[in-house]
Amino acid sequence: MTTASTAHFDSAARDWDQRPLSQQLAALPPLVLARLPLAATDQVLDFGAGTGLLATAIAPHVAQVTALDMSAAMLQVLDAKGFANIVTRQGDIFDGLPGRYHAIVSCMALHHVADTAALLRTFAAALHPGGRIALVDLYAEDGSFHGDNAAKGVQHFGFAPAALQALAQAAGLTDIGCSDILRLRHRNGRDYPLFLLTGRKP
Ligand SMILES: C[S@@+](CC[C@H](N)C(=O)[O-])C[C@H]1O[C@@H](n2cnc3c(N)ncnc32)[C@H](O)[C@@H]1O
Repeated sequence: MTTASTAHFDSAARDWDQRPLSQQLAALPPLVLARLPLAATDQVLDFGAGTGLLATAIAPHVAQVTALDMSAAMLQVLDAKGFANIVTRQGDIFDGLPGRYHAIVSCMALHHVADTAALLRTFAAALHPGGRIALVDLYAEDGSFHGDNAAKGVQHFGFAPAALQALAQAAGLTDIGCSDILRLRHRNGRDYPLFLLTGRKP
């Protein structure tokens, strides 16, 4: 991710949760929780956690959530929410992860990473055996979702599920599935569907 896009998220952080899109995304966590088996002893990673859309919903159900993000300002907003079992960590996922996880979740962060294959390999390596991914992002779109794609660090205009599933399989994951999870109504008047990619480390 570029410095410019980190600057974008830093400057957007304070009002992030009030954005119309964030308010629509508030419907997402229960849908993810319904499709992700979790245990009270689990360690979970939220990749590109931002202000904690997923992390704050998952934290009450598990031992600890590590919220990883490049943007210090996004994580400051999350820290201020005061969850005792959410640990925020600023940094790039490719600089290394502090632990191993029973689940790795993410919402709207995959499209900011150029090398999706390497990202899925990183996720697979960081999972305990039996650990799961639950990743939400945009289906392939025409670049109109973000508008200013370069300034926002957009590396992919969404994803074709079959291509992502193949990358997850190549990363060594199994039980891979991809399904519709939510539709976002953008202020440009268009709808953008989101998928949930799931998989398990053997
Ligand atoms: C569109 S925001 C989504 C935030 C939150 N998950 C949500 O849905 O509200 C994407 C986030 O991913 C983070 N991000 C992108 N690439 C990253 C990387 N390589 N390592 C860590 N965080 C990254 C950005 O800083 C940003 O906060």
